Amino acid sequence: MMTEKEAILKRHSVRAYEDRPIDEETLKLIRSKIDELNEQGNLHLQLIEDAGKTYNKLLNIAMGLGSAPSVIACAGKDDEDLDERVGYYGEKLVLYLTQLGLNTCWAGTFNRKNIGADVNDGERLVISIAVGYGKNQGKPRKSKTAEQVTAGKSDRPDWFKEGVEMALLAPTAINQQKFTIRLNEDDSVDFIDNGGVLSRVDLGIVKCHFEIGAKRE
Ligand SMILES: Cc1cc2nc3c(=O)[nH]c(=O)nc-3n(C[C@H](O)[C@H](O)[C@H](O)COP(=O)(O)O)c2cc1C
Repeated sequence: MMTEKEAILKRHSVRAYEDRPIDEETLKLIRSKIDELNEQGNLHLQLIEDAGKTYNKLLNIAMGLGSAPSVIACAGKDDEDLDERVGYYGEKLVLYLTQLGLNTCWAGTFNRKNIGADVNDGERLVISIAVGYGKNQGKPRKSKTAEQVTAGKSDRPDWFKEGVEMALLAPTAINQQKFTIRLNEDDSVDFIDNGGVLSRVDLGIVKCHFEIGAKRE
């Protein structure tokens, strides 16, 4: 199986899917990964095998996504850091799905009634992730530079540079990349949210990518 780093390099948002359900063996792997991530992140991520009419909003029709066979509903206990947890653990799942040969697209625009998610008392449904076998693999897009998204100490160790490089490949809502990664004098790192739509979810996704890049292998 490809590494998480390889999955980061391979992943692009995909909005056109083959008319083919996810096979049973792969579904089992996804379900067990979701159980593990829900445990770690105190979340209620759910695989909805039949996406049905989840993506019937005008914006979905304009952008695509209506063809996605399946969807992940991202819900969880409604704490102040729910959005960030959804971003962090949801992206762990996105990278795992990439490793399994599937394609994905985070989607803040979706039909909340049609998704059929199970949202318990005290929980909130934050976002969806479309999943299936893509008609294509997506494509590279424009990105900010490392200088534009970093701050702090100018003498930067390799682990920091590699973390930033992976963070720049993180999906963000409307590709806004409104985050700053600050290297402090003591080599600790702060992640700063500069605002924008669903920017706390973005920040969790960015942390997930940074950690994978900065990790010694
Ligand atoms: C929090 C979040 C919300 C998003 N919402 C949508 C959406 O509603 N519809 C859509 O087509 N893409 C959506 N995207 C996908 C982004 O447009 C995409 O990740 C970004 O343009 C970067 O492209 P890439 O994922 O190929 O790197 C969303 C992404 C994130 C992280």
